[in-house]
Amino acid sequence: MAKMLYHNQLIDRENVIDIEDRGYQFGDGIYEVIGVYDGNPLMLDEHLERLARSAREVQLTLPSSISDLKNNLEKLVKVNGLTEGIIYMQISRGAAPRWHEFPNADVSPITVAYTRAEERMTDVEDQGATAVLTEDIRWLRCDIKTLNLLPNVLAKQKAVENNAIEAILHRNETVTEASASNVFIVKNGELYTHPANNFILNGITRRKILQLCDAIQLKVNETAYSIDDLLNADEVFITATKLDVIPILKVDEKVIGSGKPGEITKRILQEFRTLY
Ligand code: PDD
Repeated sequence: MAKMLYHNQLIDRENVIDIEDRGYQFGDGIYEVIGVYDGNPLMLDEHLERLARSAREVQLTLPSSISDLKNNLEKLVKVNGLTEGIIYMQISRGAAPRWHEFPNADVSPITVAYTRAEERMTDVEDQGATAVLTEDIRWLRCDIKTLNLLPNVLAKQKAVENNAIEAILHRNETVTEASASNVFIVKNGELYTHPANNFILNGITRRKILQLCDAIQLKVNETAYSIDDLLNADEVFITATKLDVIPILKVDEKVIGSGKPGEITKRILQEFRTLY
């Protein structure tokens, strides 16, 4: 058994995740985070559909069928007795000697999934939070949910250092999304959110909100908007798995609207909560 250096000790390489896992070395893989409410994974089919799309976009062949994956994830939630929390799942392109190009065809992708208990964020959803602005320095395929998250990590760290929940990203003057969530603004009773193109991840929560807005006849414009539009919006909120819908009351030093969660945001949150 080959040894590897791990925390100052030479240990059997087999005992830990393979250091030549391409997810580990290159971020060469895809992932999903699925919210679990009362023991039920929310919108699991939609997450798996997006996973399949991410796989196609990076030419990664899924090692099992979507229905097997679904069964296994449901089993995992049950076996772990998870009621509130998340499932994290990633599929890397496999473990192989480190060369940048794809490994040989006999190297199979590696699926890892685990669950983590997490409280619902009810208080912050009801009370709102603040955000900071930062330049979007990511690549041009933000629509793929890949393991490459360093720009997102740096942006979120900036938010945390400023006691904010999120970092809202902008490319030049255009607001795209946030480090780990989508961003909506409300102006004169209508919603605006960046179109689902290569500059944002088309969130499963975002898509559900679009459907909910349609059902309750709120007009949503999927159009790019500027930093100025964001700062002068009547309401701003972010959406993502498990964080659901969080009103943003301040961006950098600018108070948004009344400085309290807006009526439209509250209405959407109320609708969203009927899903679980
Ligand atoms: N992030 N945009 C980005 C960049 C994200 O990382 C996420 C989710 C979203 C919202 O997508 P969804 O509604 O499907 O969760 C938008 C997950 C939760 C994460 O990386 O932890």
